[in-house]
Amino acid sequence: MKVLIIGGTGHIGSYLVPRLLSEGHQVAVIARTPKPQYAEQRLGWGQVQWVVADRRAEEKAGTWTGRLQGLEADAVVDLICYTTAENQVVMDAFRGRISHFLHCGTIWAYGPTERAPYEEHHPRRPIGEYGINKAAIEVQLQRAWQREGFPATLIHPGHICGRRWLPIDPQGARHGVEIYRKLARGEKVYLPDTGLATLHHVHADDVAQLFCLAMQHRQQALGESFSAVAPYAMSLLGCCRVVAGFFGREPKIGLVPLAQLRALVGEEAFGTIESHVIHSPCSSIEKGRRRLGYTPRYTTEQIYAEGVEYLLESGQLVI
Ligand SMILES: NC(=O)c1ccc[n+]([C@@H]2O[C@H](COP(=O)([O-])OP(=O)(O)OC[C@H]3O[C@@H](n4cnc5c(N)ncnc54)[C@H](OP(=O)(O)O)[C@@H]3O)[C@@H](O)[C@H]2O)c1
Repeated sequence: MKVLIIGGTGHIGSYLVPRLLSEGHQVAVIARTPKPQYAEQRLGWGQVQWVVADRRAEEKAGTWTGRLQGLEADAVVDLICYTTAENQVVMDAFRGRISHFLHCGTIWAYGPTERAPYEEHHPRRPIGEYGINKAAIEVQLQRAWQREGFPATLIHPGHICGRRWLPIDPQGARHGVEIYRKLARGEKVYLPDTGLATLHHVHADDVAQLFCLAMQHRQQALGESFSAVAPYAMSLLGCCRVVAGFFGREPKIGLVPLAQLRALVGEEAFGTIESHVIHSPCSSIEKGRRRLGYTPRYTTEQIYAEGVEYLLESGQLVI
């Protein structure tokens, strides 16, 4: 099968492209730079057909539709679509000439957790522009499937991480090495409120796994949405314990009301922490497991282990 990936050299693409190639597919990738962002994973990329293009610039210039109409594919994976308008253009360009269209969504489309674990059929109550737009794309694609058989599947990843892309840290931000250093050295880490807000990570290779499985089990995946997350969510407190445990320590935790954290971590990190605390994601993988055989390789503990190993090996984390 010929698979076209729009935005296929980043965190997800770096794992998805090699998986598809090893399954024997022909792979074409649209990106501005024709090379994977993770240098160590260049193996096999010589077989990729590159389409070097700037989507945003071409959307503005009005040349994007023509570009897509000139491409042949059996399946299209769109990893970098954020609005229904952008999605409509891609749908129109491929309508009637592909057998599968896979959109990368986000668990932020679900909104803050009300029932845990969240299942894909639960109501969407997104907050914030990003999640609202992704939820609108989901409605657009599911309607297109129901009304005209447009062959869509949605994959909603949790907090994506890979070897060189550090996970959301145990404080709920992506704040370089500082939190890891503190936990490794037995220094105090401040957590919001009770420390029991949750994170739901996923390794980019497991996101890639779910995309591949959806293509393999197309009939089970058409018109459906799937959460791409690790087997279970973890609390911030639990994440601190995991990382401190790598260094033989118990975490030293200071609990402060969420609002007070702003002064301690700075505006940017606070915004990220606040968003994670408010959402406190916790999604189920049962639907992916049942329909597609999704079996994530990485738990959150393994994701942190890989991240910490990388920090140590690259000399960024010195104890
Ligand atoms: N990050 C997370 O934790 C997270 C969580 C849930 C869902 N998601 C979803 O994951 C998707 C992003 O996947 P990712 O993490 O693999 O992305 P990524 O690492 O940021 O990679 C983006 C890819 O798109 C290409 N790209 C970016 N701008 C482009 C443009 N204007 N024209 C053409 N190509 C462009 C990049 O290559 P060039 O730079 O060379 O163009 C690269 O191939 C999004 O749909 C997002 O909503 C992310």
